[in-house]
Amino acid sequence: MNDAIGVDDILEHIERLRHGETLTTERASAVLDAYRSGRLADYQLTAWLATLAGRGLRFAEIVDLTRAYLGPARGEGAVPRDGRTVVDKHSTGGVGDKTTLIVVPLVAALGVRVCKLSGRGLGIAGGTIDKLESVPGLKLEFTASELATRLAADDIVIGSFSGALVPGDTATYDLRSVSGCVRSAPLIAASIVSKKVAVNADAVVFDVRYGAGALLADRESARRLAGLLVRLGGAFGLRCRAVLSDGSVPLGTAVGNAAEIDEAIGFLRGTGDRRLRAECEALAVEMVRVSEPDEPEQRIRERLRSAIDSGAALSMLVRMLEAQGGDTGPVLGGGGYCRPKARTSVRAQGTGWITDISSLDIGRAALKLGAGKVSADDVIDPHAGIRLTRHLGEHVAEGDVIAEVFHDGRDSGDAVALVSRAFSIGRQEDCRVPGEPEPVSEGDVHPQETGMVHV
Ligand code: URA
Repeated sequence: MNDAIGVDDILEHIERLRHGETLTTERASAVLDAYRSGRLADYQLTAWLATLAGRGLRFAEIVDLTRAYLGPARGEGAVPRDGRTVVDKHSTGGVGDKTTLIVVPLVAALGVRVCKLSGRGLGIAGGTIDKLESVPGLKLEFTASELATRLAADDIVIGSFSGALVPGDTATYDLRSVSGCVRSAPLIAASIVSKKVAVNADAVVFDVRYGAGALLADRESARRLAGLLVRLGGAFGLRCRAVLSDGSVPLGTAVGNAAEIDEAIGFLRGTGDRRLRAECEALAVEMVRVSEPDEPEQRIRERLRSAIDSGAALSMLVRMLEAQGGDTGPVLGGGGYCRPKARTSVRAQGTGWITDISSLDIGRAALKLGAGKVSADDVIDPHAGIRLTRHLGEHVAEGDVIAEVFHDGRDSGDAVALVSRAFSIGRQEDCRVPGEPEPVSEGDVHPQETGMVHV
């Protein structure tokens, strides 16, 4: 029953959901269609999303919501099944998470075919599409058949989610981001998996990040979400694996859109920091594994290293950017994409070891600078961001520069204060030790079989 839904119906539907009525694809599609055709206001759709987030959804309802997010096309017409494995990858997001920009060209350089549909920033976590929009001219919106054409030509494409590919996810995404509905596991799962089904890839690797700067508070919630993602992907015929990663400390040294692209390019030139390298390697290994199940892990790691050492991974990134119409001058000329109008140094407030760097404070600072959206109609500044010049576990003296804030020259005081607050300085033995990335597969996760799924 995809009957038209109006204002009175949505209120009654929300009331019924609260009393336990089952959400079906038909009902969810009716709500989403009503919103997209202007019959429901933002606040009514937000109330619906908040109801789903608060009440939780049963697994069958999450499958139905994912179908509704996909809309009538249901992923048909995207990547054709031609017997050659196509892999996608998706992160739940975190502060400084630029892994897609690294692992997609890296595994493509090993011959893995990658078709990736990405999202934008959610809350304090940046999004791949916001980052890639820092590359002038880069085309990111594709129809399903354009995605297929790009993949056939180059075996690598990154595109944006859009109303044409995942109408329901696109309609709800920004509203979730600005209304406190981003941490609901069922909504995250439907949002991510709908994008993967829209691509019609064979296999997906999910990067599920946890900690104060990520959507999931702790490792156990991340493990439960990984289980849900793997099970939901499986319900749509996808072979899925997941990696759990610690997002409590920013990943790498750059936070902000263009700044993260530049860091990813530096990584592909061989200059990545240890944690970023460990996380990218863990994800890349899983992406190669789902494509080449018989290849031993040690051999995969050797091939990944030689793709960086030989420059093949960087060439693959340049090829993708060029093929999608992007200006590659800043990569080839070495100048980079991040050109902020102004930079402010942040100095250590004491002498000692850097015992912690709070993702939450760094993420909030990046939002204040305009690197992400606080309200749905905010405009992102691609050059806004932060570069951490000193790292967790390093010794600093009072007054040393520990970070640089990139801004537009106006009113960056609050952001600078947040960056300063993000650094804890103390005794060496109190330094935080972030968890190592942990690969999990279907056998390792314990998806909830019945009952409501919450955060
Ligand atoms: N990425 C998405 O695409 N959706 C979410 O809800 C979270 C991360």
